[in-house]
Amino acid sequence: MFESLQAMPADAILGLIAEHRDDPRPNKIDLGVGVYRNAAGETPVLNTVKKAEHRLVGTQSSKTYIGTAGDATFNAAMQAMAFADAVSVDRLVTIQTPGGSGSLRVAAAVLIRAREGATVWASEPTWANHVPLLGSAGLQLKPYPYYDTQNHVLNIDAMLDALRAAPKGDVVLLHACCHNPSGLDPSEQEWQAITDIIVERELLPFVDSAYQGFARGVEDDAFAIRHMAARVPEMIVSTSCSKNFGLYRDRVGTLSFLSADAATQAIVSSQANNCVRTLYSVPPDHGAAVVSTILHDSELHAEWLDEVNDMRARLQGMRALLNDALIEKTPNNDFSHLVRANGMFCFLGISAEQVAKLKQDFGIYMVDSSRINVAGITAENVGYLSDSIAAVV
Ligand code: LMR
Repeated sequence: MFESLQAMPADAILGLIAEHRDDPRPNKIDLGVGVYRNAAGETPVLNTVKKAEHRLVGTQSSKTYIGTAGDATFNAAMQAMAFADAVSVDRLVTIQTPGGSGSLRVAAAVLIRAREGATVWASEPTWANHVPLLGSAGLQLKPYPYYDTQNHVLNIDAMLDALRAAPKGDVVLLHACCHNPSGLDPSEQEWQAITDIIVERELLPFVDSAYQGFARGVEDDAFAIRHMAARVPEMIVSTSCSKNFGLYRDRVGTLSFLSADAATQAIVSSQANNCVRTLYSVPPDHGAAVVSTILHDSELHAEWLDEVNDMRARLQGMRALLNDALIEKTPNNDFSHLVRANGMFCFLGISAEQVAKLKQDFGIYMVDSSRINVAGITAENVGYLSDSIAAVV
């Protein structure tokens, strides 16, 4: 049976982890997979996570199943963090999922039950796993323009035109903040214009929120979700705690559905829970219990906000550091888009050949599209990095 299978190529993002790990050069730099790194180049466990874990070890009395929807205290805290008081809670259902990817997968399963082969419009470009993940679940994916590769700006007019032309009832996948891979987000005014069209065309917004806190702050980064939720009858929101709680491997996220009324909400909830049961039965508990502990304790919550603010400030600092170095090393090339973007990512804006040369000749790893994770930049490596970029452009 298995002889009929063909080998798959390495994943465009995760494949870089192994390539970088196996590179023996001491000055190699990893700008690939989207994980936060501190000034020492490490991805440490957050202090608040450590504290919450200690508490849990002392107090947890059982490891029995938590049910398909996961931990209700976690779900309530995460729902409040995303929606605040934008809508009545009896129109909302939030379930715990194995990370943001698990959330997207359950959302896809529910969408397909609601409408076989539903069409989802995704930004061009979008996270490299969005199309394979949602497409392999049976959804039809179509692109809407987003990034102007010439000028490194958001192509908002083309995006709005494409959404205006989308058939009624189609789904629109949006990034709440820190657009992956471009780092360019709509302004609040632009979100209002996007929402106007969603309402007018009766489209279903499906918001992926994987970086809350990394663009402007935990509250401000929820603007798009809260603004839309207050104006649309139905909506889907996927969240991830991988980055803002640094819980990558513990797989922590949520999936929320906003329905037109409480009766529909109850049906959607039963469908989502049934999809979970048929996909992976129940979610893992540990990471969500950690997040719930942090969000329900005022001291830990305040300390966590400081940790998120520190991570955001470092990302912004590293963007400026690289841009300044490139102004000096290669003054004829404009890299100012580095500092216009939010969160972990942006495009360097170089060709695939130049990306390959950076890897082969200098041990610098990034996604083929030239997306870089700015968390991989440090005060120590920025000189070598900017010299190497200047050598290939
Ligand atoms: C990324 O885009 O690098 C991250 O979201 C990690 C992943 O799973 O691709």
